[in-house]
Amino acid sequence: MAKVTVATLREKKKRNEKITMVTAYDFPSAQMVEEAGLDTILVGDSLGMAVLGYETTLPVTMDEMIYHTKAVTRGAPNTFVVADMPFLSYHRSLEETITNAGRFLQEGGAKAVKLEGGKEQCQKIRTLVEIGIPVLGHIGLTPQSVHQLGGFKVQGKGAKQAQKLLEDAKSLEDAGAFAVVLECVPAPLAALITQAISIPTIGIGAGAGCDGQVLVWHDLLGMSSGTLPRFVKQYADLRRQIVKALGDYKNDVETSRFPEEKHSFIMDKENLPRLDPDDKE
Ligand code: KIV
Repeated sequence: MAKVTVATLREKKKRNEKITMVTAYDFPSAQMVEEAGLDTILVGDSLGMAVLGYETTLPVTMDEMIYHTKAVTRGAPNTFVVADMPFLSYHRSLEETITNAGRFLQEGGAKAVKLEGGKEQCQKIRTLVEIGIPVLGHIGLTPQSVHQLGGFKVQGKGAKQAQKLLEDAKSLEDAGAFAVVLECVPAPLAALITQAISIPTIGIGAGAGCDGQVLVWHDLLGMSSGTLPRFVKQYADLRRQIVKALGDYKNDVETSRFPEEKHSFIMDKENLPRLDPDDKE
C-alpha cells in the first residue's frame, strides 16, 4: 500500500473520491485497518469511552493518548495516522499546545493531530501548521464540550448555529487545517460546508455529502455495549461472537474437552521423574 499523505487526501477531494477513516487504539487493530486499505486512522480520544470505560472523553490524558498512538503507528506504517489532542492539552497556552502536538509526532509517530473547535482555535492551528504539524479540525458536536453543549446532540439545526458552523469551517481552512471533521451536523448543512471549502470534510453523523466518513472502531464492528447512535452502521457483530467463543472455551475447559492431544507437547516417558509416595500430601 502506498503511503497516504495530506496531499493524497487533498487530491481525493479534487477527484471527488471518498476518504475513509476509522478510529483505532492498538497494534492489531491498526494492522487490520492497513490490511483493509483505509486511508486514515484516527487515534481518537473516544479511547476514553470505547476502551478505558469512562463516561466521556474528558478524563483522557496526554500520556494515555501517546501510549495508544505509538501502538497504532507501529501497526500501520503506511496509513495516515491522526492523533486526537485530549481535553486541556491545547487550552492553557500556545507553548503547551506546541509541546503536546509535537509529542504526538516525535514520540507517537503520528502524521497529524486533531483538535476540537472553530474560529477560537485558529491562532493555535496557524502556529502548528507553520511549524510543520498538520492539523485536522473538528466542529459540530465536539465531545470535549459535552457539558457546555448539554449532551451529545445534533448541532447546527438553527439558522444562527448553521451560519456559525459554516464560518468556523472557513476559518479552519484559512488557518491551514488540512481537513475538518463534521460531527452530528444535519446532512444538508454538512453538504453545503463541503462545497464551500477546498479542504476535505470528514463526516460522522453528517450525511453522505461529506468528502469522507469516520466511524468509531467498536461501533462499526459491533463491539460496543448499549445502544448505538443512529448514524452508525454496524458491519459485524463481534461482541456477540467473542462472548460466544469465550463461553465455548469456558465450557470446554470445565468439561476437559480442551486441551486435546494436538494442543499438548510430548516427551519420552523414561525422562519423567518418579514420584515418591511421600511427595503427595
Ligand atoms: O475521538 C474520536 O473518535 C473522534 C471521532 C468521533 C471523530 O473525535
